[in-house]
Formats: sequence, C-alpha cells, structure tokens
Amino acid sequence: MIATRLRRCTQLAALFPKCPSSGLFSSFASAPPLPSSRLLPPSYPSQLTRGICVIFPKHLFSTLTDTVPSTPDKSTFERLYVHGVAQPQTKPTELKIDRVVCNNEHNEKLESNSGKDAVTNPVKEKDSEMEMSGPEKEAWWLLNQSVVNYCSSPVGTLAANDPGLCNQMLNYDQVFIRDFVPSAIVFLLKGEGEIVRNFLLHTLQLQSWEKTVDCYSPGQGLMPASFKVRTVPLDGNSEAFEEVLDPDFGESAIGRVAPVDSGLWWIILLRAYGKITGDCALQERIDVQTGIRLILNLCLSDGFDMFPTLLVTDGSCMIDRRMGIHGHPLEIQALFYSALRCAREMIIINDSSKNQVRAISNRLTALSFHIRQYYWVDMRKINEIYRYKTEEYSHDAINKFNIYPDQIPSWLVDWIPEKGGYLIGNLQPAHMDFRFFSLGNLWAIVSSLATDRQAEGILNLIDEKWDDLVANMPLKICYPALEYDEWRIITGSDPKNTPWSYHNGGAWPTLLWQFTLACIKMGRQDLAHRALEVAEKRLSNDKWPEYYDTRTGRFIGKQSHLYQTWTIAGFLVSKMLLRNPELASILICDEDLELLEGCACGLSKSARIKCSRKAARSQVLV
Ligand code: GLC
Repeated sequence: MIATRLRRCTQLAALFPKCPSSGLFSSFASAPPLPSSRLLPPSYPSQLTRGICVIFPKHLFSTLTDTVPSTPDKSTFERLYVHGVAQPQTKPTELKIDRVVCNNEHNEKLESNSGKDAVTNPVKEKDSEMEMSGPEKEAWWLLNQSVVNYCSSPVGTLAANDPGLCNQMLNYDQVFIRDFVPSAIVFLLKGEGEIVRNFLLHTLQLQSWEKTVDCYSPGQGLMPASFKVRTVPLDGNSEAFEEVLDPDFGESAIGRVAPVDSGLWWIILLRAYGKITGDCALQERIDVQTGIRLILNLCLSDGFDMFPTLLVTDGSCMIDRRMGIHGHPLEIQALFYSALRCAREMIIINDSSKNQVRAISNRLTALSFHIRQYYWVDMRKINEIYRYKTEEYSHDAINKFNIYPDQIPSWLVDWIPEKGGYLIGNLQPAHMDFRFFSLGNLWAIVSSLATDRQAEGILNLIDEKWDDLVANMPLKICYPALEYDEWRIITGSDPKNTPWSYHNGGAWPTLLWQFTLACIKMGRQDLAHRALEVAEKRLSNDKWPEYYDTRTGRFIGKQSHLYQTWTIAGFLVSKMLLRNPELASILICDEDLELLEGCACGLSKSARIKCSRKAARSQVLV
C-alpha cells in the first residue's frame, strides 16, 4: 500500500495566502452549488454534490440555502467567491485577457524560443455572438456542473458526473490530471484562467508528496493520476470541517499503474496557460520551475536504455490497464516529446538549469529521429519490412531491431492505403506493434514529432479509413482490436477490454479535440468538421458517454460512464477551435530545424555522414 499524508488547505497558506484556514464550512462562501434536478434521480441524497461527498452541518450555516443558487442553468462561475472573502461574486469570474500583456522580458523569451508571438485572444466575444447549438449549450452547463472546489476555489473537474452511478463511481468522482486537460483548454479559451492556475499549483504541491509504495518511494517528480477533495473533521471537532486533497499516484488504481503521462500533460498545460493568459510569472516561479525540472529529471535519468524513447510499463497513460503497450508506446513518446518542447520554452536558463536544457535538446533530437525513422510505416515501408533480412550483426544493419517479416499482421497487408501511413504503436527488439493508436498519432502531429509529410499521411489515412476509425463516433482509441488468443494473452482475459470495447478498439469521443487540433495544424479542418458533425448528432442524446463499443462505434460502451467530463469538454474544445483556429497555437509546436541539424551532426559522428542543414533535411525528414 502507499502511504501519503493528506494535505490540508491550511498547509497551503504559503501557496495561496488567502486560503481560509478554518475548513470548508467556515463560511457560506465555500458551499458547493446544489446539483441540478435534471441530472439527479429523486433518491439522490442532497449531501452529495457533484460527486463530492460532504457532510452538511446545516445548523452552522443558516445562510446556505439563501446564498447557493439552485437554478440548474446558472454557470458555476456565477457562484464562485473571492478567495478568503465571504462575499458571493455577483458576476462570473472573468480574466480580463482580451489582449494579453506579458512583460517585455518574457515576451522576448517566448518569441526567441518559439519564434511566435505569444499573444492570443480568448474566444469570449466571438462565441457569445454566435448561436450555440442545443448540445453545445448543454455541454457548457454540464461542464460547469462538474467543477470541483477546494478551499472555495475551483481546482478541477470531476472525471464523470453520472447521477445514475452515484454509489458506483469507482474513482470517476476524482479530478484526473489527463481528463482535466480538455476542460482546462475550454476554460482558457473562454478567458477563465483561475481554475487552471489553481489546478496547476495544487497538483504541483501534490507532486512533492511523501509517498511510499510497499516500502518503496517512487521518484519525487511523479504527478498523481488523480486527486479528490475530501472533507474531514477539523482536529477531532465534530462540528468544524476542513478540506484535504487526497492524491492517487497509482497506488489505488486498477493494476497499480504509474501515471507517466500526468507530469507530461501538466507541462503541456502550463505552457498553454502562459501563452493564452500572458501570466508568464506563473511559469517563472521557483516552485513551478522546480516542478518542471523534477518531472524532467524522472524522464531524463540515465538507465539501461538503448533508445531515446521513454521506457514504461503497461497502462501508464490514457490506456491505464493491460493492453500490451509496455515498452516504448507511441502515446507516451508523443507526450514526452511535446512536454520536452514546452519545457524548453519555459525553463529559465541559469547555471543550475543549463545542463538539463542541453539534455532536453539532445533528447529531442534523438527522439524525433528515432520515431520518424523507425515508427513510421506506409506501403513502401511495409514492403521493405516484408523483404527484410534478419539476424544482421553489424553497425550498418538495415533491419536494426531484427524484425521477422512474419510479424506483419494479415489485416495490415490489405489495410495500409496506397497514400498515407502512420506511426506504429510500439517498437522493441524483434517486435513492432502495428496497431494504429489515435492519441499518439494525433499528438505526434500537434507536437511536430512527425514530419509534415508524415502528418499529412496520418490524416490521409484517417480520411481513407474513416469507416474503421470514425464511422459512427470519432475516434477509435486503437485499431484493430485484439481478439481471441491475443486478447486472452495480452489483456489477461480482461472482461472490460473485450474486442471492440473500451481500450480495445472502442471509440472515445474525447479524442475529438486532439483530432481537431491536428487537423487545424495541417489545414484539414474539413476532416474535423466532418467528425464533429458525427459526434454532435449523438453525444447529447446518448448522455455524453465515456466510450462507444463495436467495430463501427454504434453502441454506447458496455460499462461506459455517462456525463463523462472529457467527452463534454472535448466536444467544446473542438467547437471553439474550429471557430477560432488561430488559438490552436497554444498547444501546437512547430517544426524546429535546429533539432534536425543536431540530429544530422549526431549521425555524422556514428555513421560518418556529413553534418549540415541539407544533410538534416535529407537524412532526418523522411
Ligand atoms: C479510465 C481511462 C483513463 C481516464 C479515467 C478517468 O480509466 O482509461 O484514461 O483517465 O478513466 O476518466
């Protein structure tokens, strides 16, 4: 078991000086909004709000019912209160960031690092003028309902707010780091930066938790998979309560999997927050700089690896249970690359950080070369593998990983289109996982881990294989499903991951936002519009499910939660970005030719290849 100390909000005084020290109900200010009657069955206990179980000592708070609005269509932000001040705000919390003003020094830094202007405009005005569709309005309302407060400030969103399952929520009543990302983007695009800022700072605190798993301490930089706000009696007092943050680093997770992606998402979100709000001071804080560097220390530490890719166990990302993705899964590599790119923009270079910054650049160079060169498959490459010689012992081996051609699965032979291709799911000695994993491929486009030509190829493939990858719901988490013996052996006969369900070939509507981003980056909005149209027809009627089952995504997933927040937020991000495509830049990284040059030089050392930008283009850009 894992031992962690619960963090009281009083202990965060240094972090949030105004955080009230006397617990949840020291004033009506911290009262959570009442749940909506529409979402709640009659049996839903009034103490349960948004999945957070709180004990309501009503006699202490006679003002409660007067001050908490019960109308379900009010935005949660209309019920937020100023930190530490027992006054309800009458207006929604708004950041005045129509035009972002960073201090010059930081603007220069961002410009020199990214080559781009950091100034962006949230979509507030534009959107308010537009007529929102019914599903969109509902999505907004549901998203606001899922907001979780801590010490009377918003800190995240619940994974799901499914009233039908109030006693069987498992851990879906928690704030998941990865699930919160699309919610955060929605809030940022809307000009609501506070919740994201709070989330970033509170999760940063959790990072340095003292934790041990069966006497073993995982690295200090580990970010939790999720956290829950708990209400506990204050120092044994039965009438006063306080809130504590209770993180899960994987010690309670099914399969006890380490959430490797959490820290990577945290870095990506931190950069997006800075880019859109202009609150660059947050990234520059010492604790935040330390947080970035702790995460990277974990990722960049020396080990036995022969490859620049990150070595992880099965289930260390969105697919958080056994699915045969241990080793070097694409999803983790794409997020790793993206996080390294983002971190490089944010780390302040000084004596103590310069070595790490150099290590980041070197790793980026090697990682992009490795993925572009060895993970990419298209018709030509598969034909090459089909004719591979094996057991080559030499520096110049063509078949470096000793892949036996018989590994090419029969489905792929007919499936790979003439035009287009994709990055495979995993690469290990004598093993290529040829499954198509959506998130990894999409994020490789967004982060420029893939070359432009590869990125176009991936979107071409999705277009060509629309009926397999989208059909009735965007987007298949992976294709194809593991069946028969493969399912039995690889998943361990997992009844949740049966063929074409859940992680095993299910369709996950949350992936729509990442698909939209990738399409915008490559100028293929047509595809994103098509996918959004498919999703919009069903999501609201189906109650915003977590995932869909069957080969074509026709059924709501067997054990799918309803009112899944990242389904809702993913839909909204997609809508907002398609209306304001220029805002995609807060998440996108452009190709960095310097990194390619670095790679050409690296190659020249080992294989005596000339080092130049021209060489970089010809050797590294496939
Ligand atoms: C499932 C998903 C995981 C997600 C969690 C909460 O475990 O596999 O990716 O974070 O649910 O929604």
